[in-house]
Amino acid sequence: MTERSAQSDPFDLVVFGGTGDLAHRKLLPALYHREPIGQLGEDARIIAVSRRPLSDEEYREWAHNAVCEHVAEVDPKALDRFLARIQYVSVDVAQNTGWEALEQKLAGREDVTRAFYLSVSPDFFGPICSALGEHNLVTDRSRVTIEKPIGKNGKSAHEVNETIGSVFKEHQIFRIDHYLGKETVQNLMALRFANVLFEPLWNAAHIDHVQITVAETLGVESRAGYYDTAGALRDMVQNHLLQLLCLVAMEPPESMAPDSVRDEKLKVLKALRPMSAEMVERNTVRGQYRAGASSGGAVKGYLDELGRNDSTTETFVAAKVDIENWRWANVPFYLRTGKRLASRLSEITIQFKDLPHSIFLPDAGRIAANKLVIRLQPDEGVKMQVMIKDPGPGSMRLREVPLDMTFAEAFNVRHPDAYERLIMDMIRGNQTLFMRRDEVEAAWFWIDPILEHWSHLKEAPKPYTSGTWGPSASIALIERDGRTWHDETH
Ligand code: NDP
Ligand code: BG6
Repeated sequence: MTERSAQSDPFDLVVFGGTGDLAHRKLLPALYHREPIGQLGEDARIIAVSRRPLSDEEYREWAHNAVCEHVAEVDPKALDRFLARIQYVSVDVAQNTGWEALEQKLAGREDVTRAFYLSVSPDFFGPICSALGEHNLVTDRSRVTIEKPIGKNGKSAHEVNETIGSVFKEHQIFRIDHYLGKETVQNLMALRFANVLFEPLWNAAHIDHVQITVAETLGVESRAGYYDTAGALRDMVQNHLLQLLCLVAMEPPESMAPDSVRDEKLKVLKALRPMSAEMVERNTVRGQYRAGASSGGAVKGYLDELGRNDSTTETFVAAKVDIENWRWANVPFYLRTGKRLASRLSEITIQFKDLPHSIFLPDAGRIAANKLVIRLQPDEGVKMQVMIKDPGPGSMRLREVPLDMTFAEAFNVRHPDAYERLIMDMIRGNQTLFMRRDEVEAAWFWIDPILEHWSHLKEAPKPYTSGTWGPSASIALIERDGRTWHDETH
């Protein structure tokens, strides 16, 4: 199946942090992917901005390496066309120098879409926006994308939003959460709202509980400096996991229009039951990885990677979350995320209730409740666990089988990386898959008390061996409710 994509209108995409890790691993490869399919119009430019002095040629060499390293199949002609659109400008945001060079690059193109992508430390979001305003670089056709994390808590997120909001209007601000750009996450919306099958069952009358797991095998790698100031709750739960929870739990929006979807997500965030100190103690688990084995090799513990032994930053979180509304009354959502876990696995499991009554004899076997498993990675797809009769003669015996829709096999198509979709949506001005200001602040409003109670508990995170599923307390968290984590690898 070939990819189809309409050609974009002319644009200037200005990437601050153009020499950073994210640009190297994600942004440049994602942009390159839109080249061979003709989505980048002739008059589309990419202007990389960073502190170090580089010529256009030197930066193109860097971009060439980024694409060749992170793209499986590179078409040399498309790569040449792609590199030819790239220019480089050196701006030192901390020293507030170099802006004139950027002004010159952008001059005369006020009538084309001007997209600023801030792939830099969050401390620079405010200074960059202010400088763009002072240098009159923000046009009516401008927009800005900011990377997570937005703030470290509700207060600082509010301040960041205020500063950006003093230069850009809300419809120009694109707060990225790359999980919203993942293929299966969008399929979750298709599954729920393009089929009559699921929606009547999507509520407390039929669903026992929901699990959301985002497990990584990687450690903190080169990002230990940032990670140690954040931890898994801020890095993953405040954004990715809560966004997934919102998409599972929200009411059907009126349409796919940005505010219809975001209004419904916001209602879910506001309905999250606030965690009291006692609930934090009972319903959350923090962990930190120790040395162990991962992907077949021995790996260091978090503290060794960090080069300090006094860090209490969590690399694992599990939590039991309640949503206080009619649809989800008494349906717990169990969330779990961590680094250096047993396998790379991100999935949402909707566990339906047991049958109200079985008509089968006991020797027909155990009747497992239906389960819908939406897998984000690896092997993106959806699986519905159903009971059938064991084929063949003899007495009625039942068995559980998956109705399996693994997308790669079903459609034989390359799945675009989340950043490909999100960058092009931003350039087109479509905010549906981006977080609105009130969503980000509502998510912090729920997270802040957990951070605060953890700080009062003065308890170190529970250690877990790399290559396992996290501290045993996270297993106890769900098993004391008579339930169990769903891992096919278990
Ligand atoms: P890096 O530390 O790798 O890159 C930082 C970038 O900022 C470099 O291009 C650097 O330029 C530039 N920079 C630093 N100081 C200045 C300055 N004074 N003036 C101008 N530019 C400066 O960061 P990442 O790429 O990892 O992260 C970028 C953003 O994306 C952060 O907000 C991060 O939290 C977020 N993010 C990153 C992810 C990742 O996987 N990397 C995942 C999700 C979010 P130079 O090299 O010239 O100094
Ligand atoms: C980022 C986090 O937002 O998401 C990282 O900052 C994490 O710590 C990453 O590793 C996971 O993304 P993905 O797409 O690889 O699941």
